[in-house]
Amino acid sequence: MSKKKIPKIVNPNEDEQERLHFLRIVSAFNYYRIHSLQRVTKTETYLAALPANHQALLADYKGHLRDIKTCIERNHRIIQLIIKDVAYMFENVVAPPEPVTVSPMPGVADLEKVQATLKQFVRDWSQEGAAERQACYQPIIDEIIANFPPDQCVPTNIRVLVPGAGLGRLAYEIARRGYTCQGNEFSLFMLFASNFVLNRCRGTNLHKVYPWVHQFVNNLAAAHQTEGVSFPDINPAELPSDAHFSMAAGDFLEVYTDNDEWDCVATCFFIDCANNIVAFIETIYNIIKPGGLWINLGPLLYHFSDVPDEDSIEPSYEVVRDVIQKIGFTIEKEEKNVRTSYAQNPRSMLRYEYNSVFLVCRKPLTASLQKNEVESGNQSSFVTTDCPMSPRSPAPPVDGFRDSGFDSTVNSASSAVVCPTSKE
Ligand SMILES: C[S@@+](CC[C@H](N)C(=O)[O-])C[C@H]1O[C@@H](n2cnc3c(N)ncnc32)[C@H](O)[C@@H]1O
Repeated sequence: MSKKKIPKIVNPNEDEQERLHFLRIVSAFNYYRIHSLQRVTKTETYLAALPANHQALLADYKGHLRDIKTCIERNHRIIQLIIKDVAYMFENVVAPPEPVTVSPMPGVADLEKVQATLKQFVRDWSQEGAAERQACYQPIIDEIIANFPPDQCVPTNIRVLVPGAGLGRLAYEIARRGYTCQGNEFSLFMLFASNFVLNRCRGTNLHKVYPWVHQFVNNLAAAHQTEGVSFPDINPAELPSDAHFSMAAGDFLEVYTDNDEWDCVATCFFIDCANNIVAFIETIYNIIKPGGLWINLGPLLYHFSDVPDEDSIEPSYEVVRDVIQKIGFTIEKEEKNVRTSYAQNPRSMLRYEYNSVFLVCRKPLTASLQKNEVESGNQSSFVTTDCPMSPRSPAPPVDGFRDSGFDSTVNSASSAVVCPTSKE
């Protein structure tokens, strides 16, 4: 692989913060087993205190709790594989000593994120997640193909960015179709797991997770809670030899500051992850080349809404739509009530469904010209811009995954990476 290294100017305090953040997330993964087993033990203890005749009636349930513990042990084994080599994932993080010391006890929120990460394998990398991906990812992929037809352009010249890439399947699928694609993600939970699946899994259905084992309510049958899900459903290593695929770690707003860089930005269940959604839309607009596309699908869940110590605004879709146009986008396609789900347990008695919005927005070809006119007080400083399908060289990486990682194994062109200091 071409491992380009660009020296990073590091604020020593920031580096220490990043190291502590890294250790905190590793610690959460390490505590998964203890934390999850404690939950079962609590139920077992209560069960053991019930009248003998009630316990007799619940004999099967007692056995089920034992099964749950087995599933937790199996998840723990996968987790150990996930975090096995993360110490060497980023160049700009000091590797923790092995074995990692895991105190203090991580917070409940972090521990729940470990459990959520397990569910994400279903959405992105299992056969069981196929319908969800069909609803969420396929419209985006179809739109990219329709706008950049592979027989009418050189797909590797089309640069697509997927911010908030999660476990990377959408970005991977776009790269699989020949486009140059970069996923961006700031959560170490997601980055550890995507590193594992993209760089360590060589084959199909190699592992099994038990994603629903932490859902103690709304189970129709005990077996639904302890059901295993195999992954990956396809071999992540099987990308065309000329595919360009990379994952970039870091806050979207901080990593992508160069204007007019991307032919297409594809966001799925992402824009509502912002404290300030306007900043996301503005950045998306700035980094797209004039004439380029923003494709979005998702709800407005507003992840920071009512989160203590977090700022949040929650404008309605009507307002967001207005902002999108005022920022400069032309809305070319808009579908409301697109029925979608997110890491949904298919057999649960409780289901969440989002009536998502699907949007295709274009940055006008004249955008740079207009911007220049504004900045220079209408002086004629014309900036030439490429049309969406013209070749552009990839942005230089900021820093890289330490191992051959996302690069060599998936033949990606570069791995632009900054160490994530996320809000997780
Ligand atoms: C709801 S998930 C969606 C993941 C994926 N797109 C999917 O559809 O499965 C949103 C993702 O965006 C990531 N994210 C949120 N804010 C981000 C930011 N400022 N920069 C990079 N990633 C971010 C989160 O960590 C999370 O993995």
